[in-house]
Amino acid sequence: MCSANTIAENQKNNHFANADRVWLFAYGSLIYKVDFPYLERKPAYIQHYSRRFWQGSHDHRGTPDAPGRVVTLIQEQEARCGGMAYCITPEVFTHLDHREKNGYLRVKLAVHFSPHEQLEGLVYIAPEHNSAFLGAAPIAQIAKQIAFSSGPSGRNSDYVLQLASALGELEVQDEHVFAVADQVRAYLDCEP
Ligand code: BEZ
Repeated sequence: MCSANTIAENQKNNHFANADRVWLFAYGSLIYKVDFPYLERKPAYIQHYSRRFWQGSHDHRGTPDAPGRVVTLIQEQEARCGGMAYCITPEVFTHLDHREKNGYLRVKLAVHFSPHEQLEGLVYIAPEHNSAFLGAAPIAQIAKQIAFSSGPSGRNSDYVLQLASALGELEVQDEHVFAVADQVRAYLDCEP
């Protein structure tokens, strides 16, 4: 398992190169850790993707030798993923590209605000071919890895519990996130 670095690839990306503002769809820590300026934000969703704890975190919630697990998006025809959309200026991407450098690429896709309101926006996705990708595993195994991982940004369990709480506040149903969060809580309750 090894870390990735997607900064250079993202900086070459010229989606919305001439735009003065861009909608960014957030489905992970960008929902609750908002360390960037934005002009406006609204709950939103995207179609045909599921949120999964399949990406390794070697730099934030784990270490190169003991990576944690964080979310990425996986294509799935019938799926819908809820989150938060932020209207930002393109300069903000310099900070975000650095923050999410471990395998995440900016991808253009349709961001929906309602069944009748959508526009083209950007989302960070860690694709399956990136070197930090860990892939699918049983929920109990994912939760165990998360319960016992931590890194420079803190405990991997806090990441999951904060994400589950933020999704709850947005009234977003996500069986995968809530199942992992329940099992992580169970592991933490057993800690001495
Ligand atoms: C997000 O919240 O959208 C996100 C967070 C970390 C990496 C990629 C995306």
